[in-house]
Amino acid sequence: MSSSSSYNILAAAAAALCFTILIAGTTSSQAQLTPTFYDTTCPDLSTIVRGVIEDALQTDSRIGGSLIRLHFHDCFVNVRKQSPKGCDGSILLDNTDTILSEKEALGNNNSARGFDVVGNIKSALENACPGIVSCADILAIASKESVSLVC
Ligand SMILES: *[C@@H]1O[C@H](CO)[C@@H](O)[C@H](O)[C@H]1NC(C)=O
Repeated sequence: MSSSSSYNILAAAAAALCFTILIAGTTSSQAQLTPTFYDTTCPDLSTIVRGVIEDALQTDSRIGGSLIRLHFHDCFVNVRKQSPKGCDGSILLDNTDTILSEKEALGNNNSARGFDVVGNIKSALENACPGIVSCADILAIASKESVSLVC
């Protein structure tokens, strides 16, 4: 993959995320999604995630875009039935004997990056509030904080 098409994919992912945030902020619903969801169970969530990303940015100026891309490629359980390669549960999952993970699927293998930073975020959150924040939410919140740190 050329760096130009890689850049285009990141730009598309960033645009999709910004669009999602815009829609989430302007439509009314049953309020099942809320930015205050972790306010009582993990009150320092944003500060912790932001701190890990700020550390990573010291040595990796691309990490914000890479984290947004991981969120963009994260996936639901059992989607693999429609897509024979990858995408079953999470981009954070490794291959098994019977499942080719999204992480190693064509287009992501040796291209998707930032897994170490997600691991650092997960460790920091498990120290502060064990068993509370899901991996899918970590990718979403890391994307939000990345946008705010690098835009
Ligand atoms: C992913 O890349 C690694 C390292 O290049 C390689 O060993 C592995 O076979 C690749 N996985 C797939 C599914 O192509």
